[in-house]
Order: sequence, then structure tokens, then C-alpha cells
Amino acid sequence: MTIAGPKTDFASGRFGYRAARFGQSEPLLRAVGSSKSRPLNIVDATGGLGHDAFLLAASGAQVTLIERSPAMFTELERALADALQNEDLAEIAARITVLHGDSRDLLRDIKADVFYIDPMHPERKKSALVKEPMRLLREVVGADPDSGELIQIALQHSPGRVVVKWPAKAALPDGLPQPSYELKSRTTRYCVFVAAPNALKIDR
Ligand SMILES: C[S@@+](CC[C@H](N)C(=O)[O-])C[C@H]1O[C@@H](n2cnc3c(N)ncnc32)[C@H](O)[C@@H]1O
Repeated sequence: MTIAGPKTDFASGRFGYRAARFGQSEPLLRAVGSSKSRPLNIVDATGGLGHDAFLLAASGAQVTLIERSPAMFTELERALADALQNEDLAEIAARITVLHGDSRDLLRDIKADVFYIDPMHPERKKSALVKEPMRLLREVVGADPDSGELIQIALQHSPGRVVVKWPAKAALPDGLPQPSYELKSRTTRYCVFVAAPNALKIDR
């Protein structure tokens, strides 16, 4: 299936630039507890354009990427196949496995160090601030009104750490516990839920 919606390209554009220059200080990597000495096994439960998954894999992590939209799953598979043919990206792409399905089901049976969740966020009032690929993605997949349920399931089956990416100023879905801590940027926050005292420590 081909889609008129967003295209994913791990090699070029703003994302390619960012992937080539990111460091361990990238907030996403700090939030998941990335460590050069101990590569993580991460489930990215909300595949989307695969950008976060690619950054995580570029840091050395093994990433299982789950997407429920058939159109976006097909697009992710295509983009990964392209990346595997690119000599600069093949090693990173080989660390990513894409699954088609609903993470609310799949997370119950997957073992990992971290569950990472970045659902479609509540619509912003200033829609001009929403980046084009995200706007197109919303046209294809819609909203994610069940994101609270997904986060609850992730916490129940938590491997030790659950990281939720959410707008800096929006409230998390109702019924969730307070995060253990948050890493904030101007527009985004990473809410980190650490389940056990001996869970992964942040590598600063
Ligand atoms: C905001 S996008 C994720 C963007 C992604 N982090 C990136 O870097 O490109 C959210 C995606 O998660 C998917 N999604 C939401 N809930 C899901 C679920 N329960 N299972 C699988 N995919 C889900 C949506 O279809 C959408 O494509």
C-alpha cells in the first residue's frame, strides 16, 4: 500500500542532519537511560515516522518498533529497507525490528529494558507550530484517544523504566501516577517512570 501521507527517510533532511550529530546528551537518550557501556533493549510502542526509534538505534540500542496503522507500518518497513541499502545507515537500521500490531496487546508479552511511548499529542491551539510531517501523520492515523490506557498497560508490564514523551505544558492523561522525574525542553517533556529502586540509572 502506498500512502499520500508522511514519508519517512532516515538519510536526509532535518532528521538526517540530527541523526548524524546527536550525542548522549540528547534528552531522549538521557530519558531512556542510554549508556555506551550497556546497549539497551527498547520497545518503541508508538512507531509513527520512526524518527525516535532511529535515534535510539543510532545510540546502540536494539529497538523493537510497534505501529498499528497499516499504512504507517508499511511506510516504516519501506524506509528501513532503504536504510539497510545505505552504507552509512545499514548498521543502525539492522538494530531495528518493526512489528505491526497494537502495543496494548503486544507489550504484555515483550521483554525489554525500556518501554518508550510517544502517542499523538492533544492538538495544539497554534496549529502553525505543528511540523508538517506530524500534521500529515495525524491525517493518516488520527488522534490516539487510548494513549492513557496504553501508558497504564506499559506501567503494569514495566520492564523497569517507561518513558512517555508529552507536550511540556499539557496534562498527562487522567489516572496516571506521578512520573519519577521529567526532562523538559521548551515544547516537550519526557516523563520517566522508574519501577524499581535498582532500575536503570541515568548516565549523565
Ligand atoms: C506521535 S506518533 C510517534 C512518532 C514517533 N515517536 C517518531 O519519532 O516518529 C504516534 C504513532 O503511534 C501510533 N500508535 C498509537 N497508539 C498505538 C498503539 N496502541 N499501538 C501501536 N501504535 C500506536 C500511531 O498510529 C502513530 O503512528
